[in-house]
Amino acid sequence: MPRPPRYHLTSYGCQMNKLDAELVESRLVGAGYERASHDGEADVVLLNTCSVRQHAEDRVWSRLGVLRAQKRQRPELVVGVLGCMAQEHQRYLLARMPHVDLVVGPSAFGDIDAKVDEARQRNAGRRADDRRGAHVLAVGEGVSGDAIVRDPRVRPHRSQAWVSVMRGCNMPCSYCIVPSTRGPELSRPIPVIVEEVQRLCDDGVTEITLLGQTVNAYGRDLGPGVTLARLLRALHEIPALRRIAFITSHPNFLSAELIDALAELPRVARFLHLPAQSGSDRILKAMRRGYTAARYLARVDQLRAKAPDVVLHSDFIVGYPGESEAEFQASVDLMERVRFAQSYIFKYSPRPGTLAAELVDDVPDAVKAERNARLLEVQERHLASAAQALVGTVQEVLVEGESKVDGRWTGRTVHHRLVHFPSGDRVALGCYLPVRITQALGHSLLGELLAEDHAEVRAGARA
Ligand code: SAH
Ligand code: SF4
Ligand code: F3S
Repeated sequence: MPRPPRYHLTSYGCQMNKLDAELVESRLVGAGYERASHDGEADVVLLNTCSVRQHAEDRVWSRLGVLRAQKRQRPELVVGVLGCMAQEHQRYLLARMPHVDLVVGPSAFGDIDAKVDEARQRNAGRRADDRRGAHVLAVGEGVSGDAIVRDPRVRPHRSQAWVSVMRGCNMPCSYCIVPSTRGPELSRPIPVIVEEVQRLCDDGVTEITLLGQTVNAYGRDLGPGVTLARLLRALHEIPALRRIAFITSHPNFLSAELIDALAELPRVARFLHLPAQSGSDRILKAMRRGYTAARYLARVDQLRAKAPDVVLHSDFIVGYPGESEAEFQASVDLMERVRFAQSYIFKYSPRPGTLAAELVDDVPDAVKAERNARLLEVQERHLASAAQALVGTVQEVLVEGESKVDGRWTGRTVHHRLVHFPSGDRVALGCYLPVRITQALGHSLLGELLAEDHAEVRAGARA
């Protein structure tokens, strides 16, 4: 019997893309494919790509260069570009990259196994000097990933899973390519999500992270009353679920209803990713974010008044066109005021076709790099002092894996903080264990394992 065909899949970009990659794998495994450990072993090489910054794209272009050489040796090899670059660069890929067989956008991979089969059949028996394109193209509308009935067994972690609650984005952010690669907002109905989560829980999942580009705008395309808060309340009824997280939230949709849900539902994770992007009102307006720094801060104050234990995460862009030193300083001020638990800081990268790309990218790269480093320094200081404050406390840790340091395990707290602790008899993947924090390291905490029924562990998480 011939051996089953093998695929190798690499995913770039956001969690949404990583979940898409899981769904692609679940389709391929269901159709009899096996995972290869590297490109050289694979009959099919798939790149699930990201366009959000130039750097993300450059990694894929150089990988495609390497694959072009491999394909000269093995003309039957199937090379597929999936995800946001497939959507964004479909014409270029078709016209200029004959070694790419498949170009499949993020809303069209629901039947990826059939597309891969088709490409394999076309390639079978191809000669090395055959330069004709043999493309299968599927971009824009197609069979979407939501059509995939998910195989609950195909996921990277036993007890954790990502769940897509909506696709696309309707926001007008001037710098961002996501609305053009992912299309308009499309929410999945509450019962469909609850059913998927229930099946994941039946298979051992206890922590889920709901995904959407503007996850807290969830449901507005489904009619009045369908909101993220309602969805959280529905999921909270599933007894096996111990942690429910959601990313990414837009400041404009942090409603009183959502704040109440965060305050009242003990099993909703205690962190909120609420990107500020900038602290300067002029830049925020140019970015079309739809809020001022004062409004952002007011929302944060409302949240903290009702749910003081929720920590905040942010994203910032430095070096947006025309950003002056004083405008950059406003981002530093906002960060000082909020004291985020964690921030991703990006150098502005012009994206063709976006509104901002029409402006002159006039902040020199050296200045962007310097602002990036300065903002990061502030973030690191806040992180260090928050971590120090946790020393001596007891945290409930969900065990995620063995640490790189011998004999240690790692896991996360309800605040999404990484904790390392020495091994013990009871430690196994997916356990929730009480750990006393003994030391604050750079980006993680060190702790010791306590007896199972330790009373100090956050009561809510056990409710
Ligand atoms: N939907 C999410 C995430 C979008 S992409 C949100 O709205 O928050 C993730 C982050 O990448 C953004 O928050 C932003 O900080 C950054 N980003 C997006 N476009 C960018 C660009 N052109 N240059 C630099 N950073 C960018
Ligand atoms: Fe991009 Fe803005 Fe949509 Fe986020 S909300 S994905 S930054 S357009
Ligand atoms: Fe990148 Fe597409 Fe996600 S551009 S950040 S993979 S939505």
